[in-house]
Amino acid sequence: MRFYEGFLICDVYFNQIVMNSKLFTPVKLGPLTLRNRTIRSAAFESMCPGNKPSEQLLDYHRSVAAGGVGMTTVAYAAVTRSGLSFDRQLWMRPEIVSGLRRLTDAVHVEGAAASIQLGHCGNMSHKSICGCLPVGASSGFNLYSPTFVRGLRADELPEMARAYGRAVCLARESGFDAVEIHAGHGYLISQFLSPATNHRKDIFGGSLENRMRFMDMVMDEVMTAAGNDMAVLVKMNMRDGFRGGMELEESLQVARRLQQSGAHALVLSGGFFSLSLLNISQPTRLRRISYAAFCLKKKKKEHKKKYSNVKADKNQL
Ligand SMILES: Cc1cc2nc3c(=O)[nH]c(=O)nc-3n(C[C@H](O)[C@H](O)[C@H](O)COP(=O)(O)O)c2cc1C
Repeated sequence: MRFYEGFLICDVYFNQIVMNSKLFTPVKLGPLTLRNRTIRSAAFESMCPGNKPSEQLLDYHRSVAAGGVGMTTVAYAAVTRSGLSFDRQLWMRPEIVSGLRRLTDAVHVEGAAASIQLGHCGNMSHKSICGCLPVGASSGFNLYSPTFVRGLRADELPEMARAYGRAVCLARESGFDAVEIHAGHGYLISQFLSPATNHRKDIFGGSLENRMRFMDMVMDEVMTAAGNDMAVLVKMNMRDGFRGGMELEESLQVARRLQQSGAHALVLSGGFFSLSLLNISQPTRLRRISYAAFCLKKKKKEHKKKYSNVKADKNQL
């Protein structure tokens, strides 16, 4: 027996209410039909030593599928080596296709669909992980890693967009039913979209139209590679979550553009990974020190502001 909306009801009846809810009815995402509307969202598993799938990753997603979800999403897979933000993270390349195929087969046996999140982390990396000076929408210094970052040249962007397309093809070969393009959380596409991280003076910076240009290039490649038989989801920010970042008004225009480009579903999210306390407070000592310096500076600024108000009040007396 349990309480449900103020009524004491027995478990059999409760299960009937739950199972009759719309949540457990099939849903179509473009060419794909899911058995129900629950999707395990992309959340980094850290189960890919050598940047390839492991038995642990397979078991994990098999058990999620066995739990009854409509679709499970294998978390962030980098479209190029330079897009890796952590070790034990997937990097899409031909030699991992057979391992991924075993994973999708196992998920399918349990009746769920399989999706994989594809992205590039842009400036949120370190040479020790991505093998080169991290690249981003603009050059600068990234406190998160912390590291200098090289802004991508305009002539490098078509090849970067093609890398997303190639990753979609590898996902199809691996048996995935869907791909989720990561365009949020301060990853590369998001770094182009956000006025806070895009300081470019060329046709990829400035107006929102220009800031969406790289995303448009990526979506062209992705939709062509996905063809008629794969669902394409895009994860995007509704708000970057700090002053000077992308706000709702612009996000709605981004969402409309993604709809026009043919995306079958949008995964709405928010925030910048590199500015989240969860990440900054965790790993390297250097990162913690640089974050502490950042907080101290902020505190000093707040103190100064508060103090100057007090002074102004005193002057008024
Ligand atoms: C441990 C952990 C790992 C995550 N890894 C990813 C990831 O790889 N890719 C991603 O897009 N989101 C990742 N997320 C974010 C979640 O998918 C989700 O977006 C987040 O929990 C907030 O929910 P919201 O997007 O509805 O606001 C992660 C979250 C957690 C807690």
